[in-house]
Amino acid sequence: MGKLEGRKSVVTGGGRGIGRAIALAFAREGADVAVWDLNAANAGAVAAEVRALGRTAVAISGDVSVEAEVARGMADALAALGQIDILVNNAGIQTVSPLATMSTDMWDQMIAVNLRSVFLCTRAVLPAMMERGFGRIISTASQLVHKGAPERTHYCAAKAGIVGMTRALAYEVARSGVTVNAICPGAIDTDMVRDMPEDLRLMKLNELPIGRFGRVDEIAPAAVLLASDEGSYFLGATLNPNGGDVMV
Ligand SMILES: NC(=O)c1ccc[n+]([C@@H]2O[C@H](COP(=O)([O-])OP(=O)(O)OC[C@H]3O[C@@H](n4cnc5c(N)ncnc54)[C@H](O)[C@@H]3O)[C@@H](O)[C@H]2O)c1
Repeated sequence: MGKLEGRKSVVTGGGRGIGRAIALAFAREGADVAVWDLNAANAGAVAAEVRALGRTAVAISGDVSVEAEVARGMADALAALGQIDILVNNAGIQTVSPLATMSTDMWDQMIAVNLRSVFLCTRAVLPAMMERGFGRIISTASQLVHKGAPERTHYCAAKAGIVGMTRALAYEVARSGVTVNAICPGAIDTDMVRDMPEDLRLMKLNELPIGRFGRVDEIAPAAVLLASDEGSYFLGATLNPNGGDVMV
């Protein structure tokens, strides 16, 4: 028996990187998965990988920061899976700019994709979870919540918003059977990190106690734990797989 046998999950940003690793880890543990990504081809490819593991999967394409697209996507996920037990709010973007010259559009887009989306997706699934007395909400924040980073004030603000929201909602629904937690990964070797400006990437690499970037399969187990019955006593927690970058 897998740790998530028969559970129905939605993983946003599931088309690549950390989200893909979580979707596949969930499938290996027995969960069905709605793989949601802005990139329809990637969502489809990961859904096919989930099916190859013997689970039901559906690919959802849409922008998690747009209310109507969240409503449509969650309806499609529900139609395919029957119910949603686990939501992983993982879709995110990273851009960089000094605050002094940051455009309002860059700020607003960051808050919309990395924080507003968590509100929209969580609100869409929460009432049914509470009614059934079981649910797992897991959001990907970042270790930069603890540490800060130059040229990423907007990113850190959005991710810190996730942590604040996670704690408040965990408290709000604590007696309903729904748990709400966050993962704060360190620097993980994905396209998001590979696309960083070279000087920032090397600065990050040099300051890591472990001396290397993390792998996506070093993050997925935290999501499996929080999603599983074994994770039932984590409420409003932040798990910090980060190579020692921030020792919290
Ligand atoms: N890689 C890291 O070092 C790192 C560290 C800490 C936190 N994180 C966070 O982990 C999450 C995943 O990061 P990753 O490194 O796998 O990134 P990634 O860029 O490889 O993957 C992110 C995925 O989200 C999707 N996406 C982006 N905007 C979307 C939108 N509006 N609607 C739907 N899907 C959208 C992208 O298409 C992409 O497939 C992000 O929230 C990121 O901020 C990453």
